[in-house]
Amino acid sequence: MTTLISYAHYQLRINDFLATKLQELSINDPTLIEAMRYGLLIGGKRMRPYLAYITGEAVSADLNDIDAVAGALECIHAYSLLHDDLPAMDDDDLRRGKPTCHKAFDEATAILAGDALQTLAFDILANHTFSSNQISSQMPIQVKLIQQLVRASGYQGMCGGQALDLAATGKTIPLSELEVLHSLKTGALLEASVLMPAMCSAEVTSDYKKVLSEYAQLIGLAYQVQDDIIDLTSTEEELGKPVGSDIAANKSTYPALLGLQGAQDKAENLLQQALQALSRLPYNTQSLADFATFIVKRSH
Ligand code: IPE
Ligand code: IPE
Ligand code: MG
Ligand code: MG
Ligand code: MG
Repeated sequence: MTTLISYAHYQLRINDFLATKLQELSINDPTLIEAMRYGLLIGGKRMRPYLAYITGEAVSADLNDIDAVAGALECIHAYSLLHDDLPAMDDDDLRRGKPTCHKAFDEATAILAGDALQTLAFDILANHTFSSNQISSQMPIQVKLIQQLVRASGYQGMCGGQALDLAATGKTIPLSELEVLHSLKTGALLEASVLMPAMCSAEVTSDYKKVLSEYAQLIGLAYQVQDDIIDLTSTEEELGKPVGSDIAANKSTYPALLGLQGAQDKAENLLQQALQALSRLPYNTQSLADFATFIVKRSH
């Protein structure tokens, strides 16, 4: 398994940042804040924050700015998982090795905790003092980052992908449609994990942004292809969430359409393309290359 450079360090950094953000909220409803803490702080690989930090490092962004970007991304991700597990969606009972939020609390609380984590993401961005506020730009960096996160998480991104995922449940869809679905439901947020840090650096030209975006789209798709593969090949213990739930729910997945080997070949092909994209950048992209490799080699 590829070892990720500074992974533990950035995990601690983002966990501290997020714990502080929750602590700063005044407590109106103790159960709701408890459910938010449960959904946000317990477990999770913190892949999106990690990707944001290593991209920030590569493009020489101020890592204090990346704290806000990474924090916002993880809040959106955590909210998406709380809602994804609900009975109306995937109806799963286990997440990050623990009962899902709606099992530990109740459905209404899990819905509200997800909603509140979503708005917390935008709160973090809107209220952060960015060192990279570009004087030449008409628009404050906060607004630009919020625009990017809205695109990645809303109708044109994760939510849109989740809707396509539900619509495709129980039927076979063409590969081209599956690719769009995957790219939206998982790829968009991973793409934002690269593009938002790039926006925090004056060093990234629009051409390099395009290459970073290409890399991010490829690994975003690879991430979900591998998620589908490990839903078949991993164990519940290793994964901390149920295995075989895609088959049980008759989901359209890469292994379902291409077979396990076909899906593994697809992930490998995406990895090679992502590494190729990185070779066109003038930065030290070793961590980004290792991350791409990690994604398709991970077993949980
Ligand atoms: C799971 O995401 C859902 C997908 C988008 C594939 P992660 O694999 O990042 O889950 P955590 O955050 O580590 O629990
Ligand atoms: C979920 O995809 C992607 C999200 C936007 C939350 P999955 O439904 O495959 O994620 P898991 O397998 O439950 O983590
Ligand atoms: Mg789902
Ligand atoms: Mg799910
Ligand atoms: Mg899955």
